[in-house]
Amino acid sequence: MSLPGTNLPSTVAALIPAAGSGSRLGQGPKAYVEVGALSLLGRSVAALAPYVGEVIVALPAGMELPPGLNARCIVGGPTRQASVHALLEATDARFVLIHDAARPFLPPEVIRAVLDAAQQYGAATAALPVADTLVAQQPDAQKPDAQQPDAPLWGALTPREGLWAVQTPQGFDRELLLRAHRQAVQDGIQATDDAGLVARLGLSVALVPGDARLFKVTTPGDLALARALAPVWDSR
Ligand code: CTP
Ligand code: MG
Repeated sequence: MSLPGTNLPSTVAALIPAAGSGSRLGQGPKAYVEVGALSLLGRSVAALAPYVGEVIVALPAGMELPPGLNARCIVGGPTRQASVHALLEATDARFVLIHDAARPFLPPEVIRAVLDAAQQYGAATAALPVADTLVAQQPDAQKPDAQQPDAPLWGALTPREGLWAVQTPQGFDRELLLRAHRQAVQDGIQATDDAGLVARLGLSVALVPGDARLFKVTTPGDLALARALAPVWDSR
């Protein structure tokens, strides 16, 4: 069976880690926070469902899916990595799309491009070329004493050429990603994303152009931005 806008078979599952506590946002588990009458999780599920055979969500223990979502759920783990690992064990789909519930605005063309690249390369992620100047803060030990409690100071510049900021969705051959997760457990590695676990095995990960609107809602400022964008996004 073909899916809308892609030639992939329906052996694709969307896996959504949504089991975090949202500590930096400070409003309880972030997946349930509403942006323009829809939860962050609801927006992610609705965006992905048309492109996959099933959507599986990892939730905090004791929580249920918000009503009306086209998904099934499992209990997540103590870290994002553990939640994704549990999601990978909960499906036998040939390909998986991993997407953070905390990124509510997911353009269809990014979903299609990541799926296509995952099928071609085995592993792919949405990412954006870095646009800002990058600088490390000066180590506190090098500051003059008089400035100790003051603002961080400008240290070494990092050239931004060739640097990408990594987003989700990330697409994988499921067995390949499962192998990367098992190796990470064996090696005691904790990563903030899945593509990094594949890359550390020496395998290629394709970088697919993401979208500025795919930002992650992490802080109260991000939530304000998401609430401002929602009416524009919803009237597309
Ligand atoms: N996540 C998860 N299981 C965890 C921790 C995080 O499924 N044990 C999910 C979050 O729900 C989120 C995504 O991973 O969708 C990215 O994590 P992050 O933005 O860090 O969310 P939280 O961990 O909830 O936020 P914070 O770090 O501020 O507590
Ligand atoms: Mg977190």
